[in-house]
Amino acid sequence: MTKDHPAGKTTRRAFMRGAVAGGVGTLAAGGAANAAGDGAILEVQPWARELGAGVDASGYGMPSPHEAGVHRTPVDWLTADPFASINFTPIHKLDGIITPNGVCFERHHSGAAQIDPAAHRLMINGLVERELVFTMDDLQRLPRENHVYFLECTANSGMEWRGPQLNGVQFTHGMIHNVMYTGVPLRVLLAEAGVKPSGKWVLFEGADAAGLTRSVPMEKVMDDCLVAFAMNGEALRVEQGYPLRLVIPGWEGNMWIKWLRRIEVGDAPWHAKEETSKYTDLMPDGRARRFTWVMDAKSVITSPSPQMPIRHGKGRMMLTGLAWSGRGTIPRVDVTLDGGKNWHMARMDGPSLDKSLHRFYYDFNWDGGEMLLQSRAHDNTGYVQPTKAALRALRGVNSTYHNNGIQTWHVGRDGEVENVEIS
Ligand code: CO
Repeated sequence: MTKDHPAGKTTRRAFMRGAVAGGVGTLAAGGAANAAGDGAILEVQPWARELGAGVDASGYGMPSPHEAGVHRTPVDWLTADPFASINFTPIHKLDGIITPNGVCFERHHSGAAQIDPAAHRLMINGLVERELVFTMDDLQRLPRENHVYFLECTANSGMEWRGPQLNGVQFTHGMIHNVMYTGVPLRVLLAEAGVKPSGKWVLFEGADAAGLTRSVPMEKVMDDCLVAFAMNGEALRVEQGYPLRLVIPGWEGNMWIKWLRRIEVGDAPWHAKEETSKYTDLMPDGRARRFTWVMDAKSVITSPSPQMPIRHGKGRMMLTGLAWSGRGTIPRVDVTLDGGKNWHMARMDGPSLDKSLHRFYYDFNWDGGEMLLQSRAHDNTGYVQPTKAALRALRGVNSTYHNNGIQTWHVGRDGEVENVEIS
């Protein structure tokens, strides 16, 4: 396999020769550009013959109709009804590190609550000097911060514990999104209320019909948690907790309480339903891990993948994917094309932010043969993403949660891609 990027240099030289000789064919032969002589470049297209849409056509822009295939998708058999359910971010179609607001995956326990912000309140009670109730306007007066964080459902890849099941990266890894949050640090809010010395835990409660509650230790709350009212520069989307949600960087998604209405300070965890009967990890011996909050380092190749087969034949191509860690940043991702016999260092690109998605690329020439693609993330604590076999040896297959094992895609000679496992 080609190392580093000689393909890029070759193509640039080919382009120069082609330009000097005046022969466009030289360019087509040398690299990825195959459209010379095509009517689409030689003829005037319809959109060049008429006026486009005016600036009064749409007050809030939408993607091109040609991008209609880029959307969240549920898996019907995963849940009994759409109100306590999930859908998946189309990560196979996205690039960079920011997830557009309209395609951030959803997980609801009682549907997406429609809240009038004028009637929404945030209450702080329990072991505090002053019990407080904030309006949304009150919260807007407090100091705020901006941070890009990934939010991953702890059940992301959860259907893959017993073997390859869902044939698409959207479904195996799409319970994740990554946006810039704007919000007030919890340490600012709790300073307003004054935490009593006995206050060691904090309960967060949603205003939706599920009233979802989770306990969070005070240390994490005071470190980097936010109550956020904006994502990617605009108000939260309804399905992401409008008008207010909790942000717990690096920790499992169900704790990021949406439609946040109440914060209670206590001296012990509450052992609420969603941290006992749900969101605990059943081990092979029948005991359950509890309070498994941090999302460990993980990566996946988003293209090629089952929903992104190779259509261009052999030769120059681009492989890309995402990596993340609930413990920090991702300085390195390795990629293999042959099921782990040879590993290559991927090219990290874009910002490397704490507890955020990272984007990687691997540029190579495909010889047209079968491939077994894998990626392996290293985070800045030195932790390396494990194989699925290593995870199963420790944790068995009883749990749905915290599956951060290495994903394998099989690429056939026809460019079709399948979810497989190699041992
Ligand atoms: Co957990």
